Amino acid sequence: MTKPVLEVKGLHKNFGALQATKNVSLDLKPNEIHALIGPNGAGKSTLIGQIAGWITPDAGSIYLDGEDVTTETVASRSRKGLGRSFQVSSLAMEVSARRNVMLSVQASQGSSFRFWKQTKSDQELRETAGNWLKKVGLGGREDIAVSELSHGERRQVEVACALAMKPKALLLDEPMAGLGPTGSVQLTEFLEEIRPEIPILLIEHDMDAVFRLADRITVLVGGAAILSGSVDEIRASALVREAYLGEEA
Ligand SMILES: Nc1ncnc2c1ncn2[C@@H]1O[C@H](COP(=O)(O)OP(=O)(O)OP(=O)(O)O)[C@@H](O)[C@H]1O
Ligand SMILES: [Mg+2]
Repeated sequence: MTKPVLEVKGLHKNFGALQATKNVSLDLKPNEIHALIGPNGAGKSTLIGQIAGWITPDAGSIYLDGEDVTTETVASRSRKGLGRSFQVSSLAMEVSARRNVMLSVQASQGSSFRFWKQTKSDQELRETAGNWLKKVGLGGREDIAVSELSHGERRQVEVACALAMKPKALLLDEPMAGLGPTGSVQLTEFLEEIRPEIPILLIEHDMDAVFRLADRITVLVGGAAILSGSVDEIRASALVREAYLGEEA
C-alpha cells in the first residue's frame, strides 16, 4: 500500500448548532488528484480550512507525510509542505504577479537566514518567480499589478504562488471558478501535468474538469462524506445523482 501524503481521520466541526463537518476521514496518495465534490454549503471549504489550519476542528486528526499536524499553525503546515490556494483571493493586489510569487518563495524558506538570503538572491528570486509564472501560462504578464489582471489570470498567479512553495501536497478550492471555458481547459491540462509531482486535493464544481482529472472522488453532503470512489463509480451512483448531480440537471 502506498503511504498517503495527507491523511484526515474522524474530523468534526460544529458552528453553533450546525454540524459543518461530520466524522470525515479521507486521504491523498502520491500521484493522485482526489476531488471533493458536493452541493453549496456541504462543508468543502470548512474541511479544507481545517486541513490548512485556519479552522480548528472539534475532534479528529490531520497527518502530513505521516506527521500529526493537527495542532500546528497555518504557517508551520505550509513550511512542512502543505500548499493551497483559496476560494477567496489572498493576493496582494497592488503589486506585480512576480512580487506575489516572490513573497511565496520567501515564505516557504522560513525566517532563518532571511537577511542573508535577501542580499544574496533577489535576482535569483525574481527569475524563479518568473519561471513559475511561465509554467502556469502567464509568460509576458509577470510584471503587471495583480489588480490589472483578469480574474482567470489571478487564479493562475495563485496557483503559481502555491507551486513556488514546492509543496508535498496541494489543496485547491474551486480553482476553475470564473475562468471561462478556455481558462478551465488550460488549467485542467496544467493540473494534469503537475499531478506526477504534486498530489492535489481538489474542490471543484466544474464537473467536466472533475471527471477528467480525478483519480478518486469523495462526495460531501451536509458535512458528511457519503461516498468515495472512481469517476465511473460516482457517475453511476444513484445516491450521488439524487444528492448532488441531480440538483444541477
Ligand atoms: N465561520 C463560520 N461560522 C458559521 N457558519 C459557517 C462558517 N463557515 C461556514 N459556515 C457554514 O458551514 C456550512 C459549510 O460551509 P462551507 O463554506 O464549508 O461549504 P462549501 O461546501 O465550501 O460550499 P460552496 O460550494 O458554496 O463553497 C455552511 O452552512 C456555512 O454557512
Ligand atoms: Mg466553498
